[in-house]
Amino acid sequence: MKLAKTPVVVVLAVFLTLSAMTGHATGNKVAVASAHPLASHAALEMIDQGGNAFDAAVAISAVLAVVEPAGSGLGGGGFWLLHRASDGFETMLDGRETAPLAAHQDMYLDAEGKVIPGLSIDGPLSAGIPGVPAALVHLAEHYGKLPLSTSLQPAIRYARDGFVIGERYRRLLSFRLPQIQASPAADAIFLENGQVPGPGWTLRQSDLTKTLQRLADFGAAGFYAGETAEKLLKSVKAAGGIWSQQDLDNYRVVEREPVKGTYRGIRITGAALPSAGGIGLIQALNILSEYDLTAFDAVTRKHLVIEALRRVYHDRALYLGDPDFIDVPVSRLINPDYAAGLRSTIRKDRPLPSVMLSGNIPEQAGGDNTTHFSVMDGEGNRVAATLSVNYPFGSGFVAEGIGVILNDEMDDFDSRPGAVNVYGLIGGLPNAIAPGKRMLSSMSPTFLEDDERIAVLGTPGGSRIISMVLLGILDFADGNGPDSWVSVPRYHHQYIPDAVQYEPGGLSSEELQGLEKLGHRFRETSYRYGDMQALQWHKREGRFSAASDPRGEGLAVIRND
Ligand code: DON
Repeated sequence: MKLAKTPVVVVLAVFLTLSAMTGHATGNKVAVASAHPLASHAALEMIDQGGNAFDAAVAISAVLAVVEPAGSGLGGGGFWLLHRASDGFETMLDGRETAPLAAHQDMYLDAEGKVIPGLSIDGPLSAGIPGVPAALVHLAEHYGKLPLSTSLQPAIRYARDGFVIGERYRRLLSFRLPQIQASPAADAIFLENGQVPGPGWTLRQSDLTKTLQRLADFGAAGFYAGETAEKLLKSVKAAGGIWSQQDLDNYRVVEREPVKGTYRGIRITGAALPSAGGIGLIQALNILSEYDLTAFDAVTRKHLVIEALRRVYHDRALYLGDPDFIDVPVSRLINPDYAAGLRSTIRKDRPLPSVMLSGNIPEQAGGDNTTHFSVMDGEGNRVAATLSVNYPFGSGFVAEGIGVILNDEMDDFDSRPGAVNVYGLIGGLPNAIAPGKRMLSSMSPTFLEDDERIAVLGTPGGSRIISMVLLGILDFADGNGPDSWVSVPRYHHQYIPDAVQYEPGGLSSEELQGLEKLGHRFRETSYRYGDMQALQWHKREGRFSAASDPRGEGLAVIRND
């Protein structure tokens, strides 16, 4: 088409462009960005077999469960933000883990009420009931065009035939080595002679192959009942866990209405509770909306973003939790007038110490994992999904015979008011443990749209997810594209600790000096954090662009015709 210049072809090109804008099918077009090249290629495979972005999302999620076991998997949970082109319907599939029925508020405390270190992070007691298998079945059945047996094929292939591990696998495995060694099934699968395998090692996962096949054959019953469930419960119980068959029977995916807001003509579609992401992003953008950020010097601009984040994370700690268990004043939190009140407490010449915020929760004590992908097809269907087993390699525990790593997402609850979790996040009763409850999350799959462009983005990164996505949105608002959003130098504030966190290079020395003069304190992270995966659709030109975070090992692929 590029070579020919006849009027017929021009007409065809115009037709294709228009049809793309109005949401009609446009052939093989697709854009995808994910944390692993094999997962991105699986998306192309689905499109080539007649699938849509939702089928691609099933395939990507399942492949990531195989090739990026440190980040997500069948033993974990996640949020899939969906946009259906045919009618513009938007929803969030909530596949977040739930607390087992035998869980209780004090389960990680000793007799004196102190948090027992490690109990909510290592081993099966730290694991919530997985949501990923149920969510994949739901996504395929309700939104996809292909059967699950087709969309799970790439994952089954990589589990069976193996793939060569990367540096990230080795690094994260080293970080969790003692926990992996403590689980015989995890040791047998992920280690080579009990140690971190050398570069170029091939990981084959025969138990996981069979577990995936049972999911493909029997749907949700292939995981939550029958052989998989039996083996899962037997192993969990033997290792001190508290799961029951009733927990597996009770697990349900929930479709939730995404949180929406606007910022400078950009419509934002964000994650619903139990993610704090959508509310947090819209609150931060509402606070910032009255400033012309481009008119300020870099220090003032960053100071204002930091002060907005401080207030957002403070509200998170005070109000947010599973909406099926507690009342959350969502409409107040995302109301621009409420944001105006918060903005009135911001001064341009100095920070407000976190202890001065009302309803303060005193701090009592003082990773890059999880995964995100973005995919959009030529019809305009799109998915932003952030999936997790929480810590690298989750709880480190693998149930015998099924090859599935269990998450340690229970740590995302607040074990006691004022205690901090592995990400230093603080919280209270709204996010206390209760049977069947979903733990609060920061995962923030997000859509942006203005008159010219559509964007799909997100990232892993624990408590820093929300600030990373916020910086990406501000960069979109500045007119930049995916390459730039995923590369933006990162800084962060989360109310407690009362310090600006930043990655190496995240703030320049002039910015550090300027912010210090205003009264900020700092904590530099030991590594550049995050692994953002983003894509953009240019409405007028009818073409995609996409990018994968240079900090990670992912791949973005676009097919524009
Ligand atoms: O749901 C959450 O907020 C966390 N479990 C996400 C963990 C994560 O992103 C780990 N990566 N650093």
